[in-house]
Amino acid sequence: MENISTLLQEAGLNNPSVTSYVEKWASITQPDRIEVISAADDERLVQEGLAAGEIFPAGDQLYYSRSYYKDTARSEERTVVATHRPTDKGAYNNWRDADEVTAVQVEHMRGASRGKTMYVIPYLMAPVGSPLEKWARGVELTDNRTVVLHMIRMARVGVEYLNNLDNPDEFVKAVHVTGDLENLGQGTEDDKRLFATVADERTILHFGSSYGGNALLGKIAHGLRQAAYDGWDSKEFLSEQFMLIGIKDKEKDHTYYICGGFPSASGKTNLAMMLPPDALGDRYEVYFYGDDIVWLRVDPRDGRVYGMNPEFGAFGVAKDTNEISNPTAIEAIKPGSRTLFTNVAYNPTTQELWWEGRTPTHPEDVTGWLDWRGELISDRPAERQRSTDKGDEWAHPNSRFTTTLANVPNIAPDYEEPQGVPIDAIIFGGRVRDREPLIRAIADLAEGVYDGLTLGAEATFAAEGKEGVLRYDPMSMRPFMSYSEGEYARHWLRIIGAASEQPIFAHVNWFQRDSEDGHFLWPGYRDNLRALLWLLDFKEGRVTGTQTPVGVIPTPEELNLEGFDGSRKDLEAILSFDAAQWERECAHREEHLAQFEGLPEEIWEAHRRVTEAVKAARK
Ligand code: GTP
Ligand code: MN
Ligand code: MN
Repeated sequence: MENISTLLQEAGLNNPSVTSYVEKWASITQPDRIEVISAADDERLVQEGLAAGEIFPAGDQLYYSRSYYKDTARSEERTVVATHRPTDKGAYNNWRDADEVTAVQVEHMRGASRGKTMYVIPYLMAPVGSPLEKWARGVELTDNRTVVLHMIRMARVGVEYLNNLDNPDEFVKAVHVTGDLENLGQGTEDDKRLFATVADERTILHFGSSYGGNALLGKIAHGLRQAAYDGWDSKEFLSEQFMLIGIKDKEKDHTYYICGGFPSASGKTNLAMMLPPDALGDRYEVYFYGDDIVWLRVDPRDGRVYGMNPEFGAFGVAKDTNEISNPTAIEAIKPGSRTLFTNVAYNPTTQELWWEGRTPTHPEDVTGWLDWRGELISDRPAERQRSTDKGDEWAHPNSRFTTTLANVPNIAPDYEEPQGVPIDAIIFGGRVRDREPLIRAIADLAEGVYDGLTLGAEATFAAEGKEGVLRYDPMSMRPFMSYSEGEYARHWLRIIGAASEQPIFAHVNWFQRDSEDGHFLWPGYRDNLRALLWLLDFKEGRVTGTQTPVGVIPTPEELNLEGFDGSRKDLEAILSFDAAQWERECAHREEHLAQFEGLPEEIWEAHRRVTEAVKAARK
């Protein structure tokens, strides 16, 4: 191979620390070629991917790819955070010793890119000029071309982000090696996959997957895990698995900003892309800022909490995305958008794509259709061809689309504003079939943080695990925790507590079900705006709601129900407080919180206050 330093310089990359980093990992992984990537390389790489059969055409400038069938979701058991300090161990971060993990990964990666190209992807996880820019630079090395195509859509990619730095070493070193996917023993005792963030070395080493959630290192590993660690270590900011929207009240000519965390596959992307209900469309507009990651800091100019989306694209769940549930997403992934689809069903003859919920029923004619494994539907026994049984899906339940933010029709006009936007409200929400009302507002900081720490949701298909089982997911960060939960709570109290004007907290739940027939009690999607408008009214003192032990719940009259066609009886059910269910929940919470070492006393006090009030309400 030619001299690496010369090669990088010819590609316009002149950062000496990047050169030595590439040299080091190239000598370990031993690729045949090295190539430096900028966003302008997209079309060429698409053509190469098509020619190589790695991606397939799916209409005008739409592309399709499949990941290996045992490699379709994040693997939480195989994901670890490593540092040199055992005190960084938390309940959920799978802490490991940094030196041990690094040694294991070097062995995994040694010679593993032979015969392949190493792509050098310099990227920025922030709008250009952001006050958090120094935490946002990274270079991903990957031996997978499709991963490069995803990265170009999900992050700002180009040599300019890494050149001429005051401190040339101030970037995240992110190494991705696909490995021999057919011989990694996925899910067995001898699973060779390992996804490691060596947080105190700002180094990410992922081996054994080409699925986006494990392989796009700018997004989850850097944007969430590493950034959360950096934000805590520097005491400067928070990084959360949050969506971020603006709600413009055209009558008042004022835009409110709400961010919040829902566990994976619980509705962040859908909420961020929400259109107002028709009847409210004249008065309100919803702007998309982000759908998966928000970095939060207090701005010295006015002392308020500002939120910013470090990403450049959206990696959305395909399932159930259609013109009715999410017309904004359908527009964002239309022909000409250069969207990349993963693990949906594909018809190579017609170049059509389909996923469960795309249309009410499967395509009429199954001829030519391939399921997410790449197997012909017509090869299945007749009764399984258009079956809706689990396991017979045409598309993988975690199939995704990858598109740049600029394609999203409700993208905020100022989405690249480097300062971000001032946050009015922070919401938490999960999939919970009972107990948890539509919305409850929490004004107190410690109770808000406590509420986030006790966020629970039924497990979903976005991560390996049992669907439908309730599990706690603090702030929706359980899979991305990089340091101990006690410190995590303390850092939240520190950052939000330093603000001159505290955002209001709220807990939302779009997923309560009828105990008899299981239907959703709330229509969800566009109607979710009604709950958020109430929250803003409450914050501004325009409504008072009903105080309960777990926060303030709206009365039905306080909700804007113009054009609402949901059931009144269901509405009353989701605006009620069930003390018996909450009493049981408080007992579970006590066990959950007890796992967290060094939890601040304020959080325990909040827990005791809530529990006492719940008990009193029972009497
Ligand atoms: P990640 O991208 O994995 O972090 O998930 P996400 O939080 O962005 O979830 P997403 O918005 O993709 O929603 C996941 C699933 O929830 C999809 O199948 C949606 O159709 C469904 N969903 C979203 N919002 C609602 C809602 O308001 N009501 C109901 N019933 N389902 C919803
Ligand atoms: Mn996510
Ligand atoms: Mn999403």
